[in-house]
Amino acid sequence: MEGSSLRHGQPILVLLVILQFITYIALSSTDAPFHSQRNIEYIKSSCSSTTYPRLCYRSLSVYASKINTSPRLLAHTALNVTLKASKSTSRLMAKISRIHGLRPRVAAAMADCVEVIGDSVDELQQSIGELGHIRSSNFALTISDIQTWVSAALTDEDTCMDGFSGKSMNGYAKRMVRKRIIKIAHLTSNALALINNYASTQSTLP
Ligand SMILES: *[C@@H]1O[C@H](CO)[C@@H](O)[C@H](O)[C@H]1NC(C)=O
Repeated sequence: MEGSSLRHGQPILVLLVILQFITYIALSSTDAPFHSQRNIEYIKSSCSSTTYPRLCYRSLSVYASKINTSPRLLAHTALNVTLKASKSTSRLMAKISRIHGLRPRVAAAMADCVEVIGDSVDELQQSIGELGHIRSSNFALTISDIQTWVSAALTDEDTCMDGFSGKSMNGYAKRMVRKRIIKIAHLTSNALALINNYASTQSTLP
C-alpha cells in the first residue's frame, strides 16, 4: 500500500520540482524590473517629503535606475533637472525681453528677471560643483554651503515673481514667464528638500 502511494506520488513530486524550477527561472529573469521597482519606490518615498511631491516624482522618476537608492545621486539629479529648466527659462526670458513694444513696466520686470534668474543659474551651478567634491571629511561644511547656494537661488526666483505681481501686469509675456518661474521655483524648493534629506542621512556618520 505504502509503496503504491509513493509511486503515485512520484509524478506529483517531479511536477513540483519542475514548477519550482520554472518559478526560480521566472523570478531571476524578472530581477531587473524588481530592482527598478525598488528604485521607483525610493524616489516616490523621498519625494513625499518635498513640498511638491508630484512634480518631484514626475521630474525624477525617469532617472530611477541611475539614482538607484542613493540620496546623494537623488539630490544631484534634482539639482541637474532644476539647472536645466532654469537655463531654458533664462534663455526664453532673454528673448522675450528683446521684443519691441513690451509695456515699460513689463519690460522692466523682464529685465530684472533676466538678471536674477541668471544669478540663480550661477548659484545652482555652484551648488552642483560643491556636491561634486563632497567628502566625509568636509561633509557638514560643504552641505551647508550647498544649502546656502540653493536657498539663494530660491530667493532670486521669488524676486523675479514679485516683479510680475502687480495688477497692471498682465498679458502674454507675464503668463509665459510666470508659469515657468513658478515651475523652477518649485523644482528648486524640492531640490533643497532632497538636499536636506541627504544631509540628515549622513549626519550620523563621523
Ligand atoms: C548632472 O549633469 C552633469 C552634466 O550634464 C552630468 O555629467 C552628471 O552625470 C549629472 N549627474 C546626475 C547625478 O544626474
